[in-house]
Amino acid sequence: MKIGILGSGNMGRALGAAWAGCGHAIFFGGRTEASAISVAERVGRRSVGGSLARAAAFGEVLVHTARDAMPSAMVEDARALAGKVLIDLNNKPVPPGYAFEPVLESYAERYAVDVPGLRVVKAFNTLPVQVFGYAPDILRRHAVTVFAAADDADAKSIVMRLATEIGLAPVDAGPLRNARVLEGFGDMLRYLINVAKLGAATTLSARVLPPPGEA
Ligand SMILES: NC(=O)c1ccc[n+]([C@@H]2O[C@H](COP(=O)([O-])OP(=O)(O)OC[C@H]3O[C@@H](n4cnc5c(N)ncnc54)[C@H](OP(=O)(O)O)[C@@H]3O)[C@@H](O)[C@H]2O)c1
Repeated sequence: MKIGILGSGNMGRALGAAWAGCGHAIFFGGRTEASAISVAERVGRRSVGGSLARAAAFGEVLVHTARDAMPSAMVEDARALAGKVLIDLNNKPVPPGYAFEPVLESYAERYAVDVPGLRVVKAFNTLPVQVFGYAPDILRRHAVTVFAAADDADAKSIVMRLATEIGLAPVDAGPLRNARVLEGFGDMLRYLINVAKLGAATTLSARVLPPPGEA
């Protein structure tokens, strides 16, 4: 698939590199074209880099990593985004003292309102960036969950398939409204890593136990 990375920082680099390793065509986009180009050069595997607008035009699937930037602000004409799948992996900034508030409106829902026809999927926000360094074989052995919430069933299944390719175990987390809950999971993950000191490779996974008689 053609995947456009909107913001080539930690998460954009890690996911783009993981999918490039699976043979997907990656366009790393950034506010500073030179740094996006240098990310692409480091990743290699025929990935390219350039502006956010070019990454958005390139991708059938877009990965939004710049929480405060509305998708419409990244392109000249937002209508060009209609029909594209947009993965939102953003979490809110950590508040002082890790005193998180309930999430009343998610980034994913805001992006969906911003561009009518954009097929937004909330996913990957409950995984610390370090986890992608384990892709795909080690991840596969540990059945690490990626939760996917979306209103568009086809878009959700595309993202779940992309997650499977890099070794993750996707779980359908329901409609896009549930992005609010997933952002809360993202908050808890950061609490567990940084306050409870579980470590940078902590994951939140859905494990279903067999019936007691078979366990
Ligand atoms: N890091 C993690 O472990 C992790 C895990 C799960 C979810 N997340 C979430 O993923 C998102 C990205 O995290 P990250 O660690 O990848 O951050 P990061 O390394 O700072 O990358 C963010 C990227 O967004 C770009 N950006 C920021 N503001 C922008 C704007 N207004 N317009 C266009 N581009 C903008 C930055 O560009 P410049 O380089 O030009 O500043 C950078 O490339 C955050 O919402 C975070 O909460 C992070």
